[in-house]
Order: sequence, then structure tokens, then C-alpha cells
Amino acid sequence: MELATTYLGLPLKNPVMPGASPLVDQLDNVRRLEDAGAAAIVMHSLFEEQITKDQLAEFAHTENPAESFSEATSYFPRMEDYAFGPDRYLEQISRIKASVDIPVIGSLNGISLGGWIDHARLIEQAGADALELNVYYVATDPDESGIAVEKRTLDILEAVKESITIPIAVKLSPFFSSPGHFAKQIDSLGAAGVILYNRFYQPDIDIEELEATHRLDLSNSTELRLRLRWAAILHSHLKADIAVSGGVHTTEDIIKAIMCGANVVQVVSSLLKYGPSHIGSLIAGLRHWLEDHEYESVDQMRGSMSLKNCPDPSVFERANYLRVLQLWKV
Ligand SMILES: Cc1cc2nc3c(=O)[nH]c(=O)nc-3n(C[C@H](O)[C@H](O)[C@H](O)COP(=O)(O)O)c2cc1C
Repeated sequence: MELATTYLGLPLKNPVMPGASPLVDQLDNVRRLEDAGAAAIVMHSLFEEQITKDQLAEFAHTENPAESFSEATSYFPRMEDYAFGPDRYLEQISRIKASVDIPVIGSLNGISLGGWIDHARLIEQAGADALELNVYYVATDPDESGIAVEKRTLDILEAVKESITIPIAVKLSPFFSSPGHFAKQIDSLGAAGVILYNRFYQPDIDIEELEATHRLDLSNSTELRLRLRWAAILHSHLKADIAVSGGVHTTEDIIKAIMCGANVVQVVSSLLKYGPSHIGSLIAGLRHWLEDHEYESVDQMRGSMSLKNCPDPSVFERANYLRVLQLWKV
């Protein structure tokens, strides 16, 4: 049974990798991830704000996750250690590259056209095999149109694409009126992959202190369903590969994502909860399941439950909404 696959043109030994997170800030964790079988290492992002030094990024504003949930142990870096400056970030890529044999994917995160985009080239020069581009944008200005919001990402992608030769995967938001059309535009600009999806962290309100508060809650498997739907819809429409990120916690989650059309899955919350070696259990579970169900390869399973191939495609469409509402009996 063959677990090997490809993603962004890179040969991978299996379709499971850690998603962008501070887990890889410590080389020990990187080695543990590789030893456990991770297919690639994805760096956390280098943020436009870190480069322009204007302000700290959204992630750095959140509470230290190590204090937010009790399962976290020492493998979770402290938030203040997380926001590497640009030089340390590039050094860390080179260090990781020198210590592992699997592909290393850098991540650049920003929202405007500007000099920070040059760091794509520096990330490539530091040895990254591919780049994730994350335009994590909250459209707070009601005068900015949806088309302008889409153009923001497309323009940044074009600028990054001009400056590097390594493949680019764009980490998308699901909050577009037509996420499929937007993904197709990304595809036609030559992105090698799309990552479904960014998780948007919502502020809460402290009603006693009259303050907006930040808290990082880890995901659970219910968040996967949004990704499953869109992977299934996009599977037959894109040349770009699909990575599912968000809500992958179990072997079953991985199988569902691949059946819907994902080339790879990215795992963060469950690794932060259970540690880097958890990726090994997920991969072993995937191998056993495929063997038990007599698949010859992971590629054979891909897309079998996509919108095009699914026996009842209406589950991905409006009909599902009506059926689900009727499930509730009072
Ligand atoms: C502590 C933490 C840090 C993260 N840092 C980044 C980051 O730097 N860049 C990025 O694109 N995503 C980042 N993410 C988002 C993850 O890569 C992933 O998309 C998200 O957590 C959903 O996956 P999950 O459900 O497996 O956690 C971070 C997530 C967490 C929990």
C-alpha cells in the first residue's frame, strides 16, 4: 500500500504534515515531527508587521496558548519567543533545512503591496522548498468592496510570484461571496496550491472590564466540515493542489479530507494538544485503514467523495440545508 503522494510538485512520503505553527520554532520538535513521519515541515508565518515593524501580528496578540489549556506541555513555545524577527526567521529555515530530509515550506503573511514582499525571495534563498502565502485580512471598512478585497490577495500573489521560482500555496479565507470563483482566480495566477482554510480568531468581550479580549481556542473535528465541502466542490475545478487545514484531529478526518479531494492535510491543534509524535499515530492509522479497505494507494482514494464523484452530490448543495433542518425533532 502506497502512502506516497505529491504536493506543490514536491514528492512526499505521505499526505500528512504539520500546519503553520510555532511548534517548529524548536529544532527538537522539528526532529520529533520528522521521526514521527511528517511529510513536510511548514514554518509559522513571517508577518508583514514584523518586517515593517509597525505592530505585532494578530497571532502575537493572543494569550499564550500554553496557559489557555491544561494539556499543553513544554513542547509549546511561549508566545513571546514565537515572533521571530525576519533575520532569525530566515536563519531558522536554513537550520531546519540542514537538519531534516523532508521538504520545508516557508510562510509569508501580510495584507498590502509593499517592500515586505521581498522576503519571499529571502525565504527562497534561505532554502525553503515552497512558500505559503497568507493574506489574513479582516475587511473592516464597509466602503471596501468584495472585488477590492479579492484584488488585494491577487495583487500580492502576482508580486510574490514574480519574485520567486519555488511553488506557492495560498492560504485562503472561506469568507468570500463565491469562494470557488476566488480559488479559480488564484489558480489561474499560477498558485501551485490552495490551503482551505485560515481559521479566524474572533475577539470576545469582557463585560466587567469593558474590554475586548483575545483568546486562542484550539479547533475540533467539527471545523473540518466547512473544508470538506469546499475541497469536494473545488476538486475537479483547480489545477492547483488542495491542502486541508482546520479540524483535522483523527485518522478518519484525514480520510474524509482526501476522499473529498485534498492532496494533503495539515494538522496543528491536535499536535499542540498531544505533541509532535501524534502525527505518527495519525499516519499509522491512515495506513491501517487503507490496508483494511484494500486500497492500493492514497492517490486511489482521492476525490472519491468529491462533488463530481459523490453518489449524492446534493449533500454539498442547498438541498443539504433543507434536509439538515428537518432532522431536528421537537
Ligand atoms: C498557536 C498557533 C499559531 C499559528 N500560527 C500560524 C501562522 O503563523 N501562520 C499561519 O498561516 N497559520 C497559523 N496558524 C493556523 C494553523 O496553521 C492552522 O491553519 C489552524 O490552526 C487550523 O488547523 P487546526 O485545526 O489543525 O489547528 C496557527 C495556529 C495556532 C494554533
